[in-house]
Amino acid sequence: MFSKEIYQTRRAQLAERVLSGGLILLPGNGESSINYPSNVYHYRQDSSFLYFFGLQLPDMFGVIDIDNNTETLYGDDLTIDDIIWTGPQPTISELGAKAGISDTKPLSSLWEQINLAIRKGRRIHFLPPYRAENKLRISDLLSIKPAAIADYISVELAIAVVSLRDKKSDEEVAEIERACRIGYEMHTKAMEMCREGVVEREIAGAIEGISMQKGGGTSFASIVSQHGETLHNHCYDGTLTKGRLLLVDAGAQTTMGYASDFTRTIPVGGKFTQQQKDVYNIVLAANNKAFELSAPGKLYKDIHLECARVLVNGLKDLGLMCGDTDEAVAAGAHALFMPHGLGHMMGLDVHDMEDIGEKYVGYDLETERSTQLGVSSLRMGRRLEPGMVMTVEPGLYFIPALIKKWSDEGLNKQFINFNKLEPYLDFGGIRIEDDLLITETGNRMLGDERIPVTVEEIEEFMKATL
Ligand code: GLY
Ligand code: MN
Repeated sequence: MFSKEIYQTRRAQLAERVLSGGLILLPGNGESSINYPSNVYHYRQDSSFLYFFGLQLPDMFGVIDIDNNTETLYGDDLTIDDIIWTGPQPTISELGAKAGISDTKPLSSLWEQINLAIRKGRRIHFLPPYRAENKLRISDLLSIKPAAIADYISVELAIAVVSLRDKKSDEEVAEIERACRIGYEMHTKAMEMCREGVVEREIAGAIEGISMQKGGGTSFASIVSQHGETLHNHCYDGTLTKGRLLLVDAGAQTTMGYASDFTRTIPVGGKFTQQQKDVYNIVLAANNKAFELSAPGKLYKDIHLECARVLVNGLKDLGLMCGDTDEAVAAGAHALFMPHGLGHMMGLDVHDMEDIGEKYVGYDLETERSTQLGVSSLRMGRRLEPGMVMTVEPGLYFIPALIKKWSDEGLNKQFINFNKLEPYLDFGGIRIEDDLLITETGNRMLGDERIPVTVEEIEEFMKATL
């Protein structure tokens, strides 16, 4: 973890930003069961708890009393029965000391503090819980039915937390860059292995192994698929076939929980066909356009739309789209080929703070989420500021079911040459994703070295590893 002063400063800043006063209740995560109680998922601390306390053990609560300027960490010391199974662990007071908190108490006392505050009519601020266990704990603590919890979350706290977590400090950027270095190794390993006859899960296993060897595992479920047109495809059953593309969307988290997220789309056997090159270079041009444009003050939604124009122009050159580019983008016609957003914030979560609500993370009073297919999936639309870390991940996909639907309905037929799409129905999809930091003057690509990305770089890299 970082030094305790960093966590003390973050908590003090948080308290200052919740102007209405009261208590801030920050639950850590507990263990979560897979298929029977004692078989648990790999433990992952809640990212806001991690941000404000830095502690990675289960079953702790943090409370910040804004009005009385106090902070308390709640958790139970292990009994000898626990220690037999878990080995010795720091006591709650030792954990508190690491996070710069002197007041630590057993979990049972949390109910007293909360009940007293409720009796006094004080406001208790909490973020939207996303795990069933924490929903039940909050329900129990605050006597709110689980189904009604969403009505009681603190928008003021959500906005305050986002306002701190959305700008990454130098030490956070250094952690993210560590995650990017692991991501580089994962993706170059996939390039080495991408040969005819290899099964997708062999590549998934190898790259996820790297994320465990070098850090804290993956930052999300890896996508390793010849069916890149299925956006979040978590099936690894395919055997690699010459002539197809393999889409690998994968990243690592560091042992402190900071993420990377990269996508490369590579040819099985190391050589792109002409058709693949043509589509690939359009996506790469859109990815490069996003780097050209990303800078403080720019609306990310505008950058998304500008990249969409690059895609439309490229598809027009291939004869797949037609008409006026601006009109096509305004109508959302490009969403047939890219039905997702350009990118998202990244930090302690790969989709940073998505649990708090994209409404507060990616949008604000100035920017509202669109309902149009494509832009509606843009997780981040608001103005960029120095310190933000973003992904840039344009793609082009040929989704047979969507093409059929639009073609049958004649949707956007003035912009799409449906009769030219037949040769692309088994193409799959291409996405190219990199991570960037918004600086004072523009942006900087994260990682020591860009993962091979041009057609030539990828073919050369794959040839050298034959
Ligand atoms: N890399 C997966 C995603 O951004 O949704
Ligand atoms: Mn991503």
